[in-house]
Parts: sequence; C-alpha cells; structure tokens
Amino acid sequence: PDLFGKDRRNSRGWDLTCQSDLAAITAARKPHMTAHFHAGPLLAGKVTGGTSYDARNPADPTDHLGEVTQAAPEDVSAALASARAWNADAATRAQVLNRAADLYEDHFGAIFAILAREAGKTQLDAVGELREAVDFLRYYALQAQSLDAPARGVFTCISPWNFPLAIFTGQIAGALATGNAVLAKPAEQTPVIAHFATTLLHEAGVPRDVLQLLPGDGASVGAALTSDARVGGVAFTGSTDTALLIRRAMAEHLSPDAPLIAETGGLNAMIVDSTALPEQAVRDILASAFQSAGQRCSALRCLYLQEDIAEDVEKMLFGAMDELRLGDPWHLETDIGPVIDNDARDQITEYVAQATSDGRLLHRINAPSDGYFIAPVALRVTGIKAMTREVFGPVLHIARFRAADMDRVIDDINASGYGLTFGLHTRIDARVQHIVDRVRAGNIYVNRNQIGAVVGSQPFGGEGLSGTGPKAGGPHYLHRFTRTSVDHSDQ
Ligand code: NAD
Ligand code: ALA
Repeated sequence: PDLFGKDRRNSRGWDLTCQSDLAAITAARKPHMTAHFHAGPLLAGKVTGGTSYDARNPADPTDHLGEVTQAAPEDVSAALASARAWNADAATRAQVLNRAADLYEDHFGAIFAILAREAGKTQLDAVGELREAVDFLRYYALQAQSLDAPARGVFTCISPWNFPLAIFTGQIAGALATGNAVLAKPAEQTPVIAHFATTLLHEAGVPRDVLQLLPGDGASVGAALTSDARVGGVAFTGSTDTALLIRRAMAEHLSPDAPLIAETGGLNAMIVDSTALPEQAVRDILASAFQSAGQRCSALRCLYLQEDIAEDVEKMLFGAMDELRLGDPWHLETDIGPVIDNDARDQITEYVAQATSDGRLLHRINAPSDGYFIAPVALRVTGIKAMTREVFGPVLHIARFRAADMDRVIDDINASGYGLTFGLHTRIDARVQHIVDRVRAGNIYVNRNQIGAVVGSQPFGGEGLSGTGPKAGGPHYLHRFTRTSVDHSDQ
C-alpha cells in the first residue's frame, strides 16, 4: 500500500465554522450530555471488579457522569491467562480496524460529549482528538498489510488522560494491527471514554480475548501489567518518571527482548528572533502554550524572545491573552477548558504562587471560580536551565536572549535532556537550517505552532527523556510490535 498517496486519507473531521456540521454535533451529543455511564473491566471471562468511584466533570464537579469500577488483582491474572494473540490474517485485522474507525466516526455525538464531560475537551480539541484516533486506526490497518512479521504475543498498553481517546486508540491499534493480544489500562482520570472505545472495537469484530480493558490505578494494576513474564511488550505514554519505573519493572520480570515503546514528557522551547512576524508569532505562541489548557506533551513551556523585539511581542501577547475565554468546554466561544482534576489545579496553583512570590509573574488572566480552571499565566525566567520540571498546564515561561547568544540558547535547550517539540519563528532561511541542524527534538516546527501533529504526515515522538521512539503515526511504529528489527535512524 501507498502510505503517502492514494491508498490513505485522513479523517475529514467536523468543521466548526460550518453551520450544518455544528447543528449535527449539537443534535448528536445532546442525549449524552446528561447520560450516566458505567466503566469497568472488559475481560474475556468473569470480572471480579475492585473498588468503585464516581467519574466527575472537571469543568463542573457536580456533574457525575458515571461510575467506574477498577480491575481487581484477580482480573489482572485472569486477563493474562485468557489473552490470546489475534490469529486472523492481516487483511482481516485491517478490515476490522477500519470498521472500528467507521464506528468511531458514527458515534461522534457520544464521543464528543464524553471527551467534554470526562476530560474537559473543548469542541476544537474533541474534533482533533477523534480525528487522530480514527487516523491511527486506518493508518496502522493499511500499513500492517504489508508487514510480514510475527506478533510478539501479549502487549500491555498504558495511556495518559490528556489524549484519552487518540493515544489510547493509537497504542491499541498498533498492537492489534500486528496481531498481538492487548491488555489496555487507561488513565485513572479517563476510563469512561476508554470503555466506550473498547466496546466499539469489540463491536467492530476484535475478539474479546484479543482486546481486554483493565481500568485501575497505576501503582497496582499498571505495575501488575508490566511485571509479569507473560507480557511480550509494553506501549506506554505518560510521564518520564513513570516510564523509568516501568523500565525497571520490565528489566526485572519480563524477557530481555520485550520492547518498551515509551512516549513521555517534554520541556519544549520556541525561539522567536527579531525577523519574525510578531502577529504570526503571537498567534502560534498562544496556541502552543495555552490550547488544551497547556495539557499537551507537545506544548510550549519556554519561549525565547530576541531582546530587540521582546517588549513589543510581550505586549501583544499579553493583550491577546486577555482575549482568551475560559469556561464550559462545550461553548463554541470557549478557548480553554479546565485542567484535569483538583490535584492538577492545586499543583499548578502552588507553582504559580511560588513564582509570583519570587517576583517572576509577567501576566495572568482571570479564570472561572467553579470547576478546575487555571488562568493562563506568563512567568519570567532566565532560560530553560531555570526550569526543573514539566509544569503540565497553561503556564508559559519567557526568557530573553541576545542575537550573539543564539548558540548558547540551543545548547541550553539540548542540555535539558528532553527532546520532544521545538518551535522557531524567523524569516532567515540560513538560520532555520543552522538551528534545525543543532536542536535535538523529535518534532520541529518552523513559523507555525508546535502542537497537533497529524498522523501519517507528521510522525510524532521525542528523544532523550521524551521517549524511545519509534514515532507514533509514522512508517516505523508497527515494527516494534513485531519480531523484526529495523533501522529507525531515518525517522
Ligand atoms: P502518568 O505517568 O502519571 O500516567 C500515565 C499512565 O501510567 C496512567 O495510565 C497511569 O495510571 C499509569 N501508571 C502510573 N504509575 C504506573 C506504574 N508504576 N506502572 C505502570 N503504569 C503506571 O502521566 P499522566 O499524568 O497521565 O500524563 C501526563 C504526562 O504524559 C505528561 O508528562 C505528558 O508530557 C506525557 N505525555 C506524553 C505524550 C507523548 O506522546 N510523548 C503524549 C501525552 C502525554
Ligand atoms: N500528538 C500531540 C500533539 O502533537 C501530542 O500535540
């Protein structure tokens, strides 16, 4: 198949500027905006079930959208005992995954409603997320048909809450397309959308002993699923710290050849030099730092402004920040929804309070007092060296630099050890080449924002502390789920 041409197309999605698409979304989501969902283990055999808790809407914690039952330790061992690799041929597996993609698109109303109510996704983000999930299914389905390599057996797929449908689906689709059995553990914060997606995958024809769902917390269910010798490989997306824990558990308990595909955090920088177009840079800084309430691994964390234009760009940026609207993710005019939960809000609030008392606050706007909202904020830093960790929210750090210090800035960015996304705004071609040749980052964006990689066009993934590769949505991803080895150096 031609991955770059006629055999492949990305999901059309929904156009939020089109009246008929908007009317269709409003009608389709309506019954799901007040529905009560249940999420729990989906196993091949009997479910024991552990403790339960209420799923809550981060924009409105009085909205209890459902009840979640976690997997019990017995469920983990039962799932491992009954897991069975998918012995259908690649074309049949692809047909099923394509059918699942169609079902995802058919159920857009329920999916958009759950993404808003469980994960606080704005309409724009929900559309992007569903498209990405569908793209993963179709892209891997197509690609797997030209692979002729055996599956590894049982794959554990562990996903984060910030792309609770797209990343959850992408990992599973990669493992299934190549014929593995999957034990999927979604994040504690977002089991409802994972449960809904798994039922669609089963309905499409993925056998129940090939794909099993085990909601539960990381320290118990996640740890059990990554420290059992029956597991043949792990696909993980989440924080760098958790990836290191998983690597240790795998080294101790799994076969030495079991792969870990880890996609982790970032301390992402953008450089804006004095030749950049300020209006364009400001638009792209806003999207990179604040869209999705900054809860993207790809989000801009440290902005470097060349000092000749820094004052003007900051002024324009702070004015643009004042125009951002926070609120109910389902209102079309909302730019920024809530952060995921109370813990996230408390941690970010504490971080910003400390920075403010250190005299580093540059600008912030107001946030609604109900729900878990954090007002976008800009903080002064001397550079990325002053940042010790990824703050996973709408917090932008701004540093200034002199033209003569450009190479030192790049050295500092590389020295952080992370290497996920990097943004550059300049109108000097030679500078683009100079910087792109030196910055170590998986995804580099020039004169645009640095979020929202598109499956098949922009394979996504980092290096160093940001991930192991191969990149998701790229031509080499599936090999890691099989017993072949390939050269990944050309990604
Ligand atoms: P997290 O590491 O806290 O949790 C991720 C998943 O790991 C969850 O399902 C959690 O239950 C599980 N987990 C936790 N402890 C575990 C353990 N000991 N063993 C096994 N599993 C365990 O991350 P998060 O807060 O859900 O997500 C945010 C992080 O994810 C950020 O650092 C972000 O940058 C990163 N992220 C990276 C990418 C990427 O593509 N590089 C994409 C999205 C998010
Ligand atoms: N793939 C997501 C993005 O590019 C994380 O923003």
